Amino acid sequence: MPEQHRDNFTVLYEIAQRINSILDEQELLEEVLETAMAHLDAERGYIVMVDPEDERGFNVVVSKNFSTPKAADESAASSSVMNKVFKSGEPVLTFDALSDERFEASRSIVSQRILSIICVPLRLQEETIGAIYLDSTKSRGKFNEETLKFLAVFGNLAAVAVENAKRYNRLKNENARLQSEVSSTNLFPGIIGKSKQWKAALDLVQRVIDTDVSVLITGESGTGKELIARAIHNQGKRRDMSFMAINCSAIPEPLLESELFGYRKGAFTGANADKKGLIEYTDGGTLFLDEIGDLPQSLQAKLLRVLQEREIRRLGDTESRKVNVRLISATNRNLREEINNGKFREDLYFRLNIVEIHLPALRERTDDIPVLANHFLKKASETHGRNVGKISSAAMSRLLRHSWYGNVRELQNVVERAVVLSRGEELAEEDLKLEQYSEEELVQTGLTLEEFERKLVEKTLGETGGNRTRTAEKLGVSLRWLQYRLKEWGGDSR
Ligand SMILES: Nc1ncnc2c1ncn2[C@@H]1O[C@H](COP(=O)(O)OP(=O)(O)O)[C@@H](O)[C@H]1O
Ligand SMILES: [Mg+2]
Repeated sequence: MPEQHRDNFTVLYEIAQRINSILDEQELLEEVLETAMAHLDAERGYIVMVDPEDERGFNVVVSKNFSTPKAADESAASSSVMNKVFKSGEPVLTFDALSDERFEASRSIVSQRILSIICVPLRLQEETIGAIYLDSTKSRGKFNEETLKFLAVFGNLAAVAVENAKRYNRLKNENARLQSEVSSTNLFPGIIGKSKQWKAALDLVQRVIDTDVSVLITGESGTGKELIARAIHNQGKRRDMSFMAINCSAIPEPLLESELFGYRKGAFTGANADKKGLIEYTDGGTLFLDEIGDLPQSLQAKLLRVLQEREIRRLGDTESRKVNVRLISATNRNLREEINNGKFREDLYFRLNIVEIHLPALRERTDDIPVLANHFLKKASETHGRNVGKISSAAMSRLLRHSWYGNVRELQNVVERAVVLSRGEELAEEDLKLEQYSEEELVQTGLTLEEFERKLVEKTLGETGGNRTRTAEKLGVSLRWLQYRLKEWGGDSR
């Protein structure tokens, strides 16, 4: 084998080993260009790849030693060499571009005084997927037949490597897409939200799902507390057992007690037979106590016992029974304040609140308004057989400005009503019948300034879930001022 051949062969072997180990497409293209230029001692070079979206049909993906990337692009655009390579799928070599009659008409060659050009296609089976272009202005006849053969083989090697990298990247992207689908959509089907506040809440939800810890979900009415409670049950290991939701404020005290704890025959008039309570029914599953702040004090003590001893005693019974329930509770009240006012047991609070998940009010996460609105639009259109596919931008900006004291529930109702009322395929601003928060609610007369101040502070505390720092921020006062006022009003024990 002549020296040059063996040398080229060794070089090709080494190059193949190196480029086949690079999986990042851009890094690979840079390496390919650099290797070709170094080996052929070219001054400038670039690689183009076929791009069906581009009007020329290809794009410069990497270049070297052109004054700007744009200069390389212009060279490729005006180069008759490039067109010839693409058309024929054959390499092109010119020893003296200035006198080569094939390129007489090509302005770029003349104006840049390019002397030697070599351009080889990147071929994959029968298809040209790109090309490597190298040139030199310094010496005539820099590239020869030998260089051409070398570069042609090199081009084939590079094409395979590039295709591999592309495939690898496609798989990687597909994998990432599937993974994010699994973690966002599939894990919480029908739960919408992309704001960072909402995602932070969901992140916490994910972390408690596979545990048995008691979770307290706080947030204003309509923020999705029950939805999240159900998601925790449905995704967790208790999903095949029952989920029981009880609203503590909806059932009168005596009834609530017998419903929750059950009773023994004869425990009270009308107790004609033994009855199992809802807590016992839920054994092995999840009990969701909504509006836990309204749980009467006598029942707070009994619930504490269930959580501490993991057993339950029916009304009128002397014997206890083991129960294993996971407790999720929810409230839109500030339980800390209820404790301070002596209305809620602190020991129970600590048992309920192993992990607190606070769901932010909709007005604090306006990023979620468009996605939620579109989600409800789609659902309502389907339910009511309407063809409303879009929300006009005027309507959307109105939705974004609204205060949403009823949170997601209010948004859902507003969108659903608008879909029913809408005449067109697009929701118009007039279709939105937004609750006008009454002037009285915002500014109430007949109060002293201090009473008004106190009301405003309490309402803001309610909206922030009792967070004093955020309350002070919202009111534009110092934390100190707020703490001083709360102390003065007697709502503070800290
Ligand atoms: N992030 C969300 N994605 C989809 N629907 C939501 C979301 N948050 C709340 N909803 C819907 O809004 C309504 C109110 O939610 P709910 O869980 O009952 O709130 P809360 O218990 O806090 O009052 C329900 O119809 C619920 O499905
Ligand atoms: Mg609720």
